[in-house]
Amino acid sequence: MDPYMYQRGRLLTSARPLPDFEVVESKGPWLYRAGGHRVFDGSSGLLCANVGQNSPRVLARIERQFRAYSFGGAAVVQPHIQMELMNRLCDAVGRPEDSVALTTCGTLGVEVAVGLARNITRVRGGKRRGDILTSTLSYHGNSALTVALAGNHARQPRPEDALGLGPAFPPPYPPTHDHEGRACDASCADEVATVIDNRGAENVAAVLIEPVNGTTGGAYVPPDGYLRRVADICRERDVLVIHDEVLTGLWRTGTPLASNHWAGAEPDLCILSKGLGAGYTGVGAVLVSPEIAPLIRHKDADPLPAMGTMATHPLQAAACLGVLDELESIDLDSFAARGEQLGESLRALTAHWPVRDVRGLGHLYGVEVEPGLLWPLMEAAEKHGVFFYPFTGAGHPRSEGLVVAPPLNSADDDIRHLVAALTTAVIDLSQNH
Ligand SMILES: Cc1ncc(COP(=O)(O)O)c(C=O)c1O
Repeated sequence: MDPYMYQRGRLLTSARPLPDFEVVESKGPWLYRAGGHRVFDGSSGLLCANVGQNSPRVLARIERQFRAYSFGGAAVVQPHIQMELMNRLCDAVGRPEDSVALTTCGTLGVEVAVGLARNITRVRGGKRRGDILTSTLSYHGNSALTVALAGNHARQPRPEDALGLGPAFPPPYPPTHDHEGRACDASCADEVATVIDNRGAENVAAVLIEPVNGTTGGAYVPPDGYLRRVADICRERDVLVIHDEVLTGLWRTGTPLASNHWAGAEPDLCILSKGLGAGYTGVGAVLVSPEIAPLIRHKDADPLPAMGTMATHPLQAAACLGVLDELESIDLDSFAARGEQLGESLRALTAHWPVRDVRGLGHLYGVEVEPGLLWPLMEAAEKHGVFFYPFTGAGHPRSEGLVVAPPLNSADDDIRHLVAALTTAVIDLSQNH
């Protein structure tokens, strides 16, 4: 009898089959098992360990801060290190004048962004309610509010527990947005206009959207012009745009922000998280554009949303600065070329059953497989030395597959290993299933 079996049942963790290996050491994107076998982290942990593990740069930052002082929330000591982080982060994503709220995770980043958006639109006037509109294929976190708001079918609460909330508009992705075979295009944004107009713009504070879909549908990319049209529609109606870049932010899709792929798509508020802490610390950051940030301090504004005891933790800020040091040491030209090569190699997998589709950009791809074959493929890939994160959140039609998202500082050889291992796993499965 496995001595860990009983204990595993008591630890209330993922219901998914756990990887079948224990890690004793790590280096960059590689995890080492007892006995020296190594496994490549093909999904950067939970899409967060974006600069690999065991980073000397991150360690140096944490160590220096630890020796100075290890706790000092912004209300307790001068938040110098948090301001240093704010400036570095805003410069890194090309929004140097933004204001920033720090939180402890992506979910709380979304919660704080919702609170700020409601405050801002209320101060601007003309609002009766502060509804937040999301798409029917989306994930925005694990709190009671965010699971109820979002459209991840695997995680949606029962209707009676959904606080009267739910997703509002279809996303511009062909299998989930049915318009009789016509491809999705920028005009799909008009569905957002319809929803706002039906509710009444005076009842809507913001549209909350993942600019590139993350783990719900598996890295769907919106049609050109879609995000800009959503932004225009919202501005015409005095509704704010919040981009949830918890997963996509900080170069995951090849650019600092996913919205940078399209001109005119900039949001009013933007939430970052996974790639900022990069698995070294829990963190969320809400960036607020300079046009609206002053309203948060307006005399008629509600108090700032509480960001939590451990938000603005100095060790958190130190770790994030180390992550930015790592990200900024990446040579962007070879990084871009590696992303393209990865996409091209993965798209070639569609020649093999059971791969149905490959989509994505930069270092983020969804490899969709025939329903029912996700777990066998994960297992086969693991045997060949690479593991991935699954996506299963689409409702109807059902779709599932692997999110391929290696650490952003992976080397050419690392990416070659990932592609070779996954290709062998797919071929194994197609021949033996
Ligand atoms: C797009 C998106 N938003 C929000 C979250 C929630 O972040 P966290 O798990 O850090 O609370 C996630 C996490 O997977 C995410 O992918």
